Formats: sequence, C-alpha cells, structure tokens
Amino acid sequence: MAEPSSTPACPSSVPAHIAIIMDGNGRWAKSRGLPRIEGHRRGVETVRTTTFAARDLGVKVLTLYAFSVENWKRPQDEVGGLMTLLEFYLKKELKTFVEDRVRFRTIGRTSELPASVQKLLRETVEATKHFTEYTLVLALNYGARTEVVDAARAYATAVAAGRENLNDDSWATFNRYLSTADLPDPDLVIRTSGETRISNFLLMQAAYAEFFFTPTLWPDFTKADLAAAIADYNRRERRFGPTSEQLKPATR
Ligand code: FPP
Repeated sequence: MAEPSSTPACPSSVPAHIAIIMDGNGRWAKSRGLPRIEGHRRGVETVRTTTFAARDLGVKVLTLYAFSVENWKRPQDEVGGLMTLLEFYLKKELKTFVEDRVRFRTIGRTSELPASVQKLLRETVEATKHFTEYTLVLALNYGARTEVVDAARAYATAVAAGRENLNDDSWATFNRYLSTADLPDPDLVIRTSGETRISNFLLMQAAYAEFFFTPTLWPDFTKADLAAAIADYNRRERRFGPTSEQLKPATR
C-alpha cells in the first residue's frame, strides 16, 4: 500500500461507501501566495493518499468529486490546468491501480472531456474492471441534476421501447438508470474546507447518507482526518425511517 504511516485506531464500523467533496485547494494555495493550480497539484497528492487510506481503513467504495459540471465556468487556464493534472494523474496511477487491485471508474458526462482524457479514462477503466475488493470512483463533469436528466431520458426511452413498465413506480427500477446503478449508496459524505453545501453532488444517492464537514482544506486532509470522520460516523444512529426504539433489540 502506498501509505505505510501510522494507522489510527481501527473504527468499529466502517462505512462501505464514502464520498468526498474535495474543497479548499484554492484557499490552500492563496494562503501560501501560490497560484491556484499549485493547490490543485497538492490536491492530487491528497487524492492518492486518501485512495489508499480509505482502502486501509476498510472502505469498499470511495467516490471523489473531482470536476463538476459547474467547474467549466472557472477561468480557462484553471480548467486547462485541471485537465492536464487529470492526464498526469491517470498516466501515473494506472500501474498502481493494477498492482494494488483498485477498480477505477467514473461518473459524469465524460464524453464532454478532452479526447486525450477520455482515452486515458477508457484505458484505466478497462485495465481495472475485473477487480472486486475496492473501487475508486472519480466524479468528472458530474452534476446530480444532469445525472437525473440523463437517467429520466434513458428511462423514458426504455418505457417507449417496452423494456420498462410505466406502472412500475419503484425507486429500485429508476435507480438502474443512474450512473451509480452498480454501486451502494454512500454511507458517509465528507466535505472539506469548512463549506457546508452539497453542491449538486450525489443528490439522489445521499438520501440517507451521514454528513461530515471539516475545516481542513483538501490538500491538508490526512488519513487521521479520514479516521476521525469514520469515528464520528460511528456515533450516529442511522434509522432509515423507523424510530430509535424500534431499532434497539428488546432487552427482555
Ligand atoms: C475545489 O477546490 C477543488 C476542485 C475543483 C476539485 C478537486 C480537484 C482536485 C483535487 C485536483 C484534480 C483531481 C484529479 C483527480 C486530477 P477549490 O478550487 O474550489 O478551492 P477554493 O474553494 O479554496 O477556491
């Protein structure tokens, strides 16, 4: 594993799926008098360490919000810089993913990304698709509303073709048209940098997720921070509708 440093105490129950809104790269750079892209560069390092930290802690799926549909509105040089970083990252990580048996996949409209990035994404997904123990999902050109629109369109097409029945109003059926259909819902959503918004991230899938907000800026986020988020998650009671009493086993 890439991060052999001291492992914090093992939490009692580890969320199977953690999703992270990685925020604060710009502020990290600004506070050091550096250009924003330096913050993103350091942010990529944190992507690497967190990928393996989560796996070490027993997480099965890690989803990272790397580029939103709204991020195209940023200055052109920042968008270009992020795409270049993504290319470097994918070129470097492919070997590591294969060695460490990480299944890599994406969510989001990747067909709108630069062709060179798309090619690397296809290669990385293809080379790691048979791994089953641990999955890293990068949300790229992702927006939850866009995802719902895409799913509704695909669902309507299936109804028109007679492959779905409009009388079937179950969530399980519609869920099959979301980009995360093959993944469990996130148990824990973390946002770094002190912001407390969801920013169009996994709106459907996070319906019953627990949320953890930390002031730590993404480039400073460590394995200890991740373990602290998991420890906090362990103090929550997840009820999914029933009362607390209903969930507790009868004492006699
Ligand atoms: C938010 O920081 C960060 C993003 C735009 C997404 C995260 C991007 C990375 C970690 C780098 C690219 C990732 C890969 C995998 C190549 P911000 O710029 O909004 O920070 P600020 O709110 O402090 O300005």
